[in-house]
Amino acid sequence: MKQIIKIDVKAAKADVTKLKVDCLALGLYSDAKNSDLLNLLDKKLDGAISKVIKIGDFKAAVGSSIFLYTHGKIAAERLLLVGLGEKQKKTADTVRQAAAKAAFEAVNVKAKTLAIVRHNETKIDFSRLGQIIAESVHFGGYRYDEFVTQQKNGGNKSLSVLIVDDNQKNISKLSAGIKVGQIIGRAQNFSRTLCNRPANILYPSEFAAIAKKVAASVKGLSCTILDDKKLAQKKMGGLLNVGRGATNKPRMIILKYTPKGRAKNKEPIALVGKAITFDSGGISLKPATDMHEMKMDMTGGAAVLMTMEVIAKLKLPVQVYGVICAAENRPDGASYLPGDILTTYSGKTVEVLNTDAEGRLVLCDGLEQAKRFNCKTVIDVATLTGACVVALGKHKAGLFSNDQKLAEKIEAAAKDSCEPVWRLPYEQEYIDEIKGKIADLKNQASRWGAACNGAAFLGEFTQGLAWAHLDIAGTMDASEPIKKYAEAGSIGFGVRLLSSFLMNF
Ligand code: BES
Ligand code: ZN
Ligand code: MN
Repeated sequence: MKQIIKIDVKAAKADVTKLKVDCLALGLYSDAKNSDLLNLLDKKLDGAISKVIKIGDFKAAVGSSIFLYTHGKIAAERLLLVGLGEKQKKTADTVRQAAAKAAFEAVNVKAKTLAIVRHNETKIDFSRLGQIIAESVHFGGYRYDEFVTQQKNGGNKSLSVLIVDDNQKNISKLSAGIKVGQIIGRAQNFSRTLCNRPANILYPSEFAAIAKKVAASVKGLSCTILDDKKLAQKKMGGLLNVGRGATNKPRMIILKYTPKGRAKNKEPIALVGKAITFDSGGISLKPATDMHEMKMDMTGGAAVLMTMEVIAKLKLPVQVYGVICAAENRPDGASYLPGDILTTYSGKTVEVLNTDAEGRLVLCDGLEQAKRFNCKTVIDVATLTGACVVALGKHKAGLFSNDQKLAEKIEAAAKDSCEPVWRLPYEQEYIDEIKGKIADLKNQASRWGAACNGAAFLGEFTQGLAWAHLDIAGTMDASEPIKKYAEAGSIGFGVRLLSSFLMNF
């Protein structure tokens, strides 16, 4: 495997006409008057900017961009105009998309240096802005090419990004935010890499080995692995049985973050992640079309692992457990079968009606583990149901909760991080659906509202907890609009959201 692109972000004061970079990016509103800076560059470039606007090639819509070549009239090789849309409608998400777009396009032309010029607006939180821009250039600049050996003129090995501002005060604030944004952006990109890695490379024990390495690389983070023997000793019947058909045996990966000083929370918080390194459906086999995408069925687990890294690197004053339930779901002579009755770690029994509803079976053991760690606030993250994709499309994750305050905090974190969620019901009708006849529960109910009855199943293991469930099946990979400013494949969903949640806690 080769090293994938390394991205670095800094802020500095500079004369934009004299910056020797492969690409100089400038955001443009579709409706605002040209800034002094824009007029200056336009003049230097003999009217090239006003020309592309005038002839209609560039309308500055959000997500659009155009390259202009500078022919030595300024020091930068290329100028990239990036659309910001209407000035009044600008949000954090606009900035995020524009910064990602700049990095995405820069990498497309194999630029190694990119300067992003800021508008001279004043009333903004520069630290937050630095964080957003840094996260976003990591997001847009990422490419997954670990296994490509025959790349034409080599892939990009690095992208160095400079955020330009003309005020030293702004720069120190921007730099503080960049530091945070780089930690989150890099964590999210590594989460994408884990998700993009196929199942022959990333299987449960390998995931566990990587988790060990991540934990060892940062202070305050510890990692314990429960292998299949330990899982059997502990009677984790959900996780064990899902993994029974695979030669790559299941693992429970337990991360613990302990802050150096006093923690704000008395009882630890838990993040519980579904990490099915491949979901073939098992004996209830999935159709062949797009089955390969199920290598990303460990997105929740990857989000948990990389969020744990983020909070340790940021030294957040909270104590947090990360519980990752890793298994491969395969048909085989040893596989669990439809009709099987499993005894889960909690002692509750489940009748398996569909071996493809495996996520809830591994998660119920993770939720029970979190309880036994005395956690009182638990969030699980899982690519749980196709039904959630039907309900919300690929634009938002489903949020279910038994606790209004917790749900609101997650909604606030979703706003901050621009990883959107939408609340779906956790109510009695759905809970009734998954009650069993010959066992306590069944792992499948009606196909109508299957995201909701899936969540209801998990809710059965959360008594006494403030609990939320994030169904991230739809946001597992890049949707069409995201593909305009990021590589296809995993988008590492959940790292920004969970990090924001814990930063605000
Ligand atoms: N991993 C899938 C859900 C999924 C679907 C994730 C599409 C990402 C994209 C999950 O394990 C699954 O197979 N769910 C079943 C549940 C059903 C059998 C109750 C589903 O959604 O069909
Ligand atoms: Zn699955
Ligand atoms: Mn499945």
